[in-house]
Parts: sequence; C-alpha cells; structure tokens
Amino acid sequence: MREFNPNMKVHQDRAIQNPTDDIGVSDATIRNWNRLGVSGVERSAKLMSRANKRHSDKSFMPAEYAVDSAQSEIIDPLLQYAGQHRLDHSTVLFLAATGIANDCTNNPFFSREIKSWEQELHHPALEDHQQSFGRMMPICLHGDFLGLLYQSLLSEGKKAKSGSYYTPPSVARAMLEDHCRPASMVLDPACGTGQFLLEAANLVGNPKCLYGMDNDPIAVRIARLNLMMRFPDLVFEPNIFHADTLSQETKADIPLDFFDLVVTNPPWGSHGTKQEKAALARRFPRIRSGESFSYFLVQATKFAKKCGVISFLLPESILNIKVHSDIRDYLSQHFQIRTIQHIGRLFSGVFTSVIRLDVVNDKPRNHAKTGSAFIVFQNDNDRRIMQKIESCPIWNLKDNSQFALGIVTGNNDRHLLKTPLPGSEPIFRGKDVEPFFLKPNTEFLVFQPEKYQQVAPEKLFRVDEKLIYRFISKDPVFAYDDRQRLTLNSANILIPTRPDFSMKVLCAVFNSDVIRFVYRKKFNALKVLRGNLEALPLPDFSQSDQQVLLSLVEDYIETRNNAILDEINDRVYRYFEICYNDIRYIVGELRKN
Ligand SMILES: C[S@@+](CC[C@H](N)C(=O)[O-])C[C@H]1O[C@@H](n2cnc3c(N)ncnc32)[C@H](O)[C@@H]1O
Repeated sequence: MREFNPNMKVHQDRAIQNPTDDIGVSDATIRNWNRLGVSGVERSAKLMSRANKRHSDKSFMPAEYAVDSAQSEIIDPLLQYAGQHRLDHSTVLFLAATGIANDCTNNPFFSREIKSWEQELHHPALEDHQQSFGRMMPICLHGDFLGLLYQSLLSEGKKAKSGSYYTPPSVARAMLEDHCRPASMVLDPACGTGQFLLEAANLVGNPKCLYGMDNDPIAVRIARLNLMMRFPDLVFEPNIFHADTLSQETKADIPLDFFDLVVTNPPWGSHGTKQEKAALARRFPRIRSGESFSYFLVQATKFAKKCGVISFLLPESILNIKVHSDIRDYLSQHFQIRTIQHIGRLFSGVFTSVIRLDVVNDKPRNHAKTGSAFIVFQNDNDRRIMQKIESCPIWNLKDNSQFALGIVTGNNDRHLLKTPLPGSEPIFRGKDVEPFFLKPNTEFLVFQPEKYQQVAPEKLFRVDEKLIYRFISKDPVFAYDDRQRLTLNSANILIPTRPDFSMKVLCAVFNSDVIRFVYRKKFNALKVLRGNLEALPLPDFSQSDQQVLLSLVEDYIETRNNAILDEINDRVYRYFEICYNDIRYIVGELRKN
C-alpha cells in the first residue's frame, strides 16, 4: 500500500482515507502536484472531486454523444421505465436493442447474438417489457443509440473507474476521415459500443475490415449488434471480441503487425486491482507511470502494420507532464509523431483538455528529446526555425537557477487586505505580472509565514533582484523585481544564478518573440512550468551585447517606449540569425490565440 502524504491536508472523508487505489491518484501524480506547486486547497479540491466522481452514483445523458433530438428525447422515458421496474443495465440494453432491431437484418449471427444475450439474462417477464419498450422506441434511430443509452445508465462513478467516456461521433469521424480508405484494416482496441467502428464502416465499406476489443461484455454485445445493423444485407460475424486488450492472450483473435489504422479513445488513469496493476507493470516495463493510456499506446504499436497509423484521443497532460515522459520517449524514439491536435474539453463531466495524437509506425524522422515535453513541430517552418535557434550558442536554466513558488495562504479572504494596515506590504498575483513590470498592487499582506499553508523561504523573496513570472499563461511573461516583493502562487519566482548574465537582459529574453514562439511550439502548455523554462534555449549574449541590451531594457523600464521594445526583440532575432520572412512567420504565429 502506498503511503498517503499527510501534507496534502485533505478533509477526512471516507472516500479519501485510502486515496491511491480508491481515487486513482498515483504517487507520480502527487509528485507532479508537488512539482507544479498545486496548493493544498487545490489538492483537496482535486482529490475531493476525483473521490466524489469515483463514488458518485449519479448518471446523466452525455449530450455530446447524441446525434439528434430523437435520440436524446427517448432516453428519459426509457430510464424512467427501467427505474420503475428495477431493470438492470444489461436488461434495459437488451430490451432497447431488440426494440430497435425489429426485423432489421437476416444475418443469422445477429439472431445468435440476441439469443445468447437473452439466455444470459434469464429474465421471467422479458416479453412484457419487450412490448412496452417496442411502444416507446421510435421507428428510426440513427447512430449508436444503444451506446448513448448505456452511457446514460452508467453512473459517473462506474465511468470514472473504468475510464468509459465514449467519443462523440463527429470527433471519431474526423479522425477516421484523415486515415481510412476503402478496405483499410481498422482496429479499435477499446471499442466500447463501437462508435469508431461505425464511423469507419462508412469509409471502409466492408465490415470484415473492422476489428474491435473491449473488456466490457455489455459494450461488446452492443458493438457487435451495432455493426450488424449497419450492414443489414450482409451475412457476417463481426470481428469484435470481449477481451482484455492489455493481456497477452488477446492476440489470437487480433493479428499483430496488421492494421492500417489503430484508432481509439483509450481509458485514462490507473485502473484495476493491485495485482492487475503489478502484472501490467511487468508486462510493460517501459511504462513507469502505471497509466492506462500509455499501456494502450504501446500495445497499439504492436497491432499497427509498418507505416500504419495510431490515432488516439488523450489528455493534454501527455504532452508535457513529466510523469508521461516514459511514453513520450517510447513513441518518439521508435515512431514518427505525425499530428498533435488540440481539441479542448470533450466529455460531459470531464474537465481535462483533450488532444488527438497521431503516430506512424515508421522510423522517427526528427529526433525529439522528450524528457520534459513532447517536442513536435507542426510543420517544416517550425522545424527549420527551431533547428536554426538550437544551432546557435545557447545555454539554459538547468543548474543555473533557483525557483520558488509564490505563497499559498490557504485562505486568501482571511489573509489578504484591500487597504494597507501597519506592518502590511504589497502582494502580487499572476494577473499583476506584465512584461518587465509588476502592475500597481491592489492587495496587501502582513507577512506571517507560519500562518500560511505553503511558503518558500523568505530569503528567496528578499533577494536583491529576481524575476517574477505568471504561472497560468501559454507564454512566458516575466517582470523584473528589485524591491523584494511578495507574490501569491499564481506568480512564481526565478532567480538565475549565472553571475555573468544580467538579470534584466534575461527578463528581456523571456519576454521576446523568439522565446515566446519556442515556448508555444515546444510545450503548447497553459502553464509556465519550471521544467519547461529550464529546457528553453537561451541566447549566450557576449558581455558587450549584454551591455547594449541592458541599457535598452533600462530605457524601456523608464520610458515604456515601444520602439525600444522592438529594438530589444530585433536583437534577439538577430542573435539567432532569423531572417525577415521567418520573423513575419513567428509574429503571425504569436498573434494566433
Ligand atoms: C473511453 S472508452 C472508449 C470507447 C470507444 N473507443 C469510444 O471512443 O467511444 C474506453 C473503453 O476501454 C475499455 N477498456 C478499459 N480497459 C480495457 C482493457 N484492459 N481491455 C479492453 N478494453 C478496455 C472500457 O470498457 C471502455 O469501453
């Protein structure tokens, strides 16, 4: 049993006394929260939200999964009927399946599937319920209605525990349209009720080209029925199997090195019993995080044929969180990273931002160093400019800096003052940090470190000079401070320790177009993380260059004349020998949101 970190200061609650297995928070996640400076209050909220979710028996219809209003309007009456008659999920879905399926196919495998499901249910009043369901079901229901019903029946807790959030049809379609051709061989290794396979059917044309697996037997039954209903005139048995994709035994049914496309939205998080987790760790020694999506990615690479594509929906954290450097390294060392597309929030009740990652089963073309982030450039321009920057003399902050998090008071309402009191001093938040300056403060604090939840050693705030940067931001935004200012944890502290490099010049470098461009392209993150800052390539300006830049920065701080800012920017561009056309490209990229 892993230990519960007492510093997390969570409320005592049945659901979180034993946090790791119960709410799926790994040691790695906790280490990561430490690294990112996630405050005790935020941790409590995260833990409570995960715990609440994993124990929630609430269910709701995920509107994003419905293809039309006919689908969504029928869900409520069916759920009410199921509740009144205390029908279990399998029975409700069986009734809905037979309600839709009326004479829809002559495929004997369809009747066989229905028969075997019926036998499994062994329900005395099945026929009566079938008639009632038949009356409630409209004649024509498009798409994966059974999947929508299943998602509406499943409690939030069950979905969170098994990682079962089904993909909206439009997103699945877009992924398939990019890779499927007639007769492409397609596998969804965590197929749920078969959304990806149904969308692939429209492009591939032949159900025999479509393969699926899932360890949820009800989902597999639905996926099989769905595919047979999609091809009512064909006699075929779907290649969709009830199996554990991550176990070794599955491979008999699903050929290895075979598929043109392995596509899915795999489960995210850490699932299974302690023994199951240990078995996965042994089976996938390269994956140290215990993360399901990483296991699925590794497994997918075994199913894809040479030059086949693996296209997955994943949480954004795969791109830059240190815990996931294992899978980033594995993929970038052996395969080509084709596309990373930011999709944003996708699933009702899930706040994580989603990305789509496409990987080609072929030798990597551009070596990517991924210890701190997935370094993938969208196009040749990005790649060429990055190569140019990295070919110049550069240095970085690793081993050349100290970092400190701003103060976590634990209760800002109690500790922050709107008007100064004797003994109070200004305090600054992330929103107060502008390039080079702190905006005039609007809050004050009587500095009493012993009263706060988390506070860096005072000497780090009180150094002669330091840089303060916004934590929540997609670009680095750095202010210079020589007035020993205090900050809250939305504004963190950097103290460079290279004695021959001016701190004001470094401030200018971080605020420059070049570094903002590199940060966006390399990390594409919504937070300015220490590991990312440490990995930035910084120009190794000579002392004379620094002298010129220093006087420009001082002029700018005094006059706030934008022409001086342009001159500073130009000098960074020139250092990296970036030509006019590339400057125009960078400026254009930075204007994009
Ligand atoms: C996020 S859902 C995605 C379903 C479907 N691919 C979609 O996008 O609509 C993940 C699916 O993975 C399945 N799953 C979880 N662990 C599995 C395992 N070890 N083997 C096979 N399927 C698994 C769950 O039952 C669930 O249906």
